[in-house]
Amino acid sequence: MSATRFVPILVLLVVSGIKSLLECDEEVKLLCFEGELRQILVNLVSNAFDAMRLGGTLRIRISQTSNSGVRKVRIVSADTGCGMSPQERSHLFEPFFSTKGIGGTGLGLWITRDLVSQNHGTIDIRSSARIGRSGTVARLRFYPG
Ligand SMILES: Nc1ncnc2c1ncn2[C@@H]1O[C@H](COP(=O)(O)OP(=O)(O)O)[C@@H](O)[C@H]1O
Ligand SMILES: [Mg+2]
Repeated sequence: MSATRFVPILVLLVVSGIKSLLECDEEVKLLCFEGELRQILVNLVSNAFDAMRLGGTLRIRISQTSNSGVRKVRIVSADTGCGMSPQERSHLFEPFFSTKGIGGTGLGLWITRDLVSQNHGTIDIRSSARIGRSGTVARLRFYPG
């Protein structure tokens, strides 16, 4: 996967006053249908964008990992947005759960989790709404391609 794939998405953030940082190991290849990976990333980035209406930073890091000899590709998306309360966090993968009123469908993360698991990956999202330290971190793991 080439880091340049992210450029169109990240341009949207830059023009919106959101600082975006992308770190990607050279020549990372992962096992995922390309269109599905794009859908996964667009969902994560658009949620980060919605959470940082007052500005902030989005970091995306793509790296190769090895745990007990099992190689994986890890994608981490970390934003400094408003974060989620524990109550919101407990519903975030449910279909039609949205805190965005008419601006949300509540289907983004439901679809994302399904696409990740269809591609034999995992997704884990942590978030905090603590004032001054709020933000959300999504960690995804895929098999190398
Ligand atoms: N990065 C994030 N920061 C804060 N809240 C988030 C983030 N990602 C998801 N959420 C919360 O999870 C809910 C569900 O997300 P999603 O399934 O993408 O639906 P939608 O974006 O249409 O609301 C959002 O409405 C929001 O409350
Ligand atoms: Mg969404």
